[in-house]
Amino acid sequence: MTDRTDFVLVESGRGGFGLEPLRIAHDLGLRTVFVTDDFGRYADASGSTAAFEEHIDDLVLADTTDSTTVAEALGKHHETGRIAGLMAIIDYYVTVAADVAHMFGLPGLDPAAARNARDKRRTRRVCAEAGIPAPRAVHARTDSEALAAAGSVGYPCVVKPMTEAASIGVQLCRTPAEVSAHFATLTATTTDFRGLAKPAGVLVEEYLIGYEVSVESIMVAGERHVIGVTDKGLDRHPWFAETGETFPSSLPADVRDECVRVALAALDAIGHDFGATHVELKVTADGPKLIEINARLGGAQIGRVIRESTGLDLPRELLRMHCGLIPDLRVTRHRAAASRYLTAPSAGVLGEILGTDLAERIPGVVELTTYLAPGTPVRPARSNADVLGHLVVTAGTPVEAARWADAAIGQLSVVLRDEPAAGR
Ligand SMILES: Nc1ncnc2c1ncn2[C@@H]1O[C@H](COP(=O)(O)OP(=O)(O)OP(=O)(O)O)[C@@H](O)[C@H]1O
Ligand SMILES: [Mg+2]
Repeated sequence: MTDRTDFVLVESGRGGFGLEPLRIAHDLGLRTVFVTDDFGRYADASGSTAAFEEHIDDLVLADTTDSTTVAEALGKHHETGRIAGLMAIIDYYVTVAADVAHMFGLPGLDPAAARNARDKRRTRRVCAEAGIPAPRAVHARTDSEALAAAGSVGYPCVVKPMTEAASIGVQLCRTPAEVSAHFATLTATTTDFRGLAKPAGVLVEEYLIGYEVSVESIMVAGERHVIGVTDKGLDRHPWFAETGETFPSSLPADVRDECVRVALAALDAIGHDFGATHVELKVTADGPKLIEINARLGGAQIGRVIRESTGLDLPRELLRMHCGLIPDLRVTRHRAAASRYLTAPSAGVLGEILGTDLAERIPGVVELTTYLAPGTPVRPARSNADVLGHLVVTAGTPVEAARWADAAIGQLSVVLRDEPAAGR
């Protein structure tokens, strides 16, 4: 048999996060095959795709919204038996990657489970049948269905798309007028953020009042390994952009255990059988309830805070797992880490970000990155896509990591153009 030398990545994120799996594959001595329908998407702020090119051995251009087309485009690689593993790291392509891995007989997630996770309407239906605690949710295809749904779940309600990520389009609606307006916004386009066809309509959900956690786990050879529970912070209503994560959670063991129990039951309910998961829950007065299931690693800085606190390199181990190897999930460090995200206080044009020198003086800051050049339009974060930068802090305990991370983000001021910096 020909040596299996190739690692295939179906689309990715932009910047360092998106490059990571390609870098890891090279580091593992694999050839990298990158499938995309628009390589220009991976250009950096200066318009260059050089960083991606450096880590791509074969660039395959194909319609990545369609599993059969991707499988055909990879035909030669598959026929020669060179593909060791194939995966996607962002939600939008989890189903296509599951389909193609399945067609090629490669390790991967059951395609039906991928669909159950990817489409929030299916998640809600399948989990309701299994009795998983979750908000009431109604699929609405018309304005009047959305209003009737809001009436039945009660105000305020959450109106959201079924197949986006990064909290894009998720909004708290307090009145029928807000429900109608947001329904109109979400249904004005037929494709999602990455250009894939959207299911028609929206989900109208009961609004869960509580705090948010996520449960990170990996399914290996039929066994679920719980990596841990992450404490998450959220920005202001009516949107739900993340403000930060702390790992491990500082919640009492009985609350964490209950969160894990609900998350694993939800994963069983959707038939999840392989690879990484990131399950989001709200802990309410009635206990933890399911927000959503992602059949991938936690995004944003979750991988980083887990690595800093446990020594686990989940992206690397997951990639190895997709290539048929047994992942090494041994924890080598017992520390804690927290991330915080920088957002604009109001809409305008970015002038400068003050205080990075001060934030760097906070003990344990291991990363502080800002993404945008002066002159870029900014606005308060409606989703994680509007975040301007992030920092990561490590400490001995999660409470200390969170306190230092709050102190560090508190040093930063976003100054908009034509707006005098306060106190200067
Ligand atoms: N029914 C609900 N009740 C309360 N809050 C909700 C509800 N649905 C969504 N949210 C809030 O909105 C956020 C984003 O929603 P959701 O996770 O469904 O979208 P997403 O775009 O897939 O998120 P991401 O990809 O960032 O994890 C959630 O993390 C949660 O804070
Ligand atoms: Mg989510």
